[in-house]
Amino acid sequence: MSEHIKKVYSFYSWIYDAFFGKIFEHGRYVAFHMMNPKANETVLEVGVGTGLSLPLYAKNVEVVGIDISQEMLDKAQRKKQYYNLSNVNLYNMDASSMTFASNTFDKVIASHVITVVTDPLRTLNEIKRVCKKDGEIFIVNYTGCNYKLIAAFEKFISPFRDKVGLGKHIDLNELLRYANLPVLSEQRVNFLEMCRLIKCKNTTTTTLPKTASTFCQHRDS
Ligand SMILES: C[S@@+](CC[C@H](N)C(=O)[O-])C[C@H]1O[C@@H](n2cnc3c(N)ncnc32)[C@H](O)[C@@H]1O
Repeated sequence: MSEHIKKVYSFYSWIYDAFFGKIFEHGRYVAFHMMNPKANETVLEVGVGTGLSLPLYAKNVEVVGIDISQEMLDKAQRKKQYYNLSNVNLYNMDASSMTFASNTFDKVIASHVITVVTDPLRTLNEIKRVCKKDGEIFIVNYTGCNYKLIAAFEKFISPFRDKVGLGKHIDLNELLRYANLPVLSEQRVNFLEMCRLIKCKNTTTTTLPKTASTFCQHRDS
């Protein structure tokens, strides 16, 4: 499955900024301001993609970005060089089994990633593990739209969503409950408020991983 995701994003890497860059721009800025990274904090961007948000960070914030797609990372690497982002480090790594020590990051963000990964709960548990106790975790995710035309289009592409790398339908509330992640605040972001931006506090220890399928049966709303 991860091989499939790698292939899909190897293709998207060429068009990602032109297409998704604008569509998700609003959410990116709101999430960054909600995260409010402070001097000397360490931030992990899970599924950093082409690194669209990397230039937003001040140079005194240490940023680590990981992604499973080398092609997406290559684009992020170019931004690092272009903007001279000496505070940014990028790694090819699977979010569901990270090599970082536990309690490493002050803040972790997963933007448009949780529905794309093969095993969302395992990934969330890994995020909790590498995030410091009482650190903050931010999740941005497409959650659907009530506008008839878009909802109809969404229904039409629903069976192929996962195949084309747009992620599966998951019950995000249920997932967060299983992961023991209390929501501190949330707001709707992006065009037609189609996405949820959720801020959680890493107060509890991780739970035993369940399989991804538990969360893929219902459409999040
Ligand atoms: C929709 S893109 C989001 C990119 C970026 N976070 C953004 O908001 O623009 C999803 C990213 O997650 C990455 N990804 C998917 N599965 C992953 C995994 N298991 N570990 C790390 N990255 C993964 C993909 O390669 C892709 O770059």
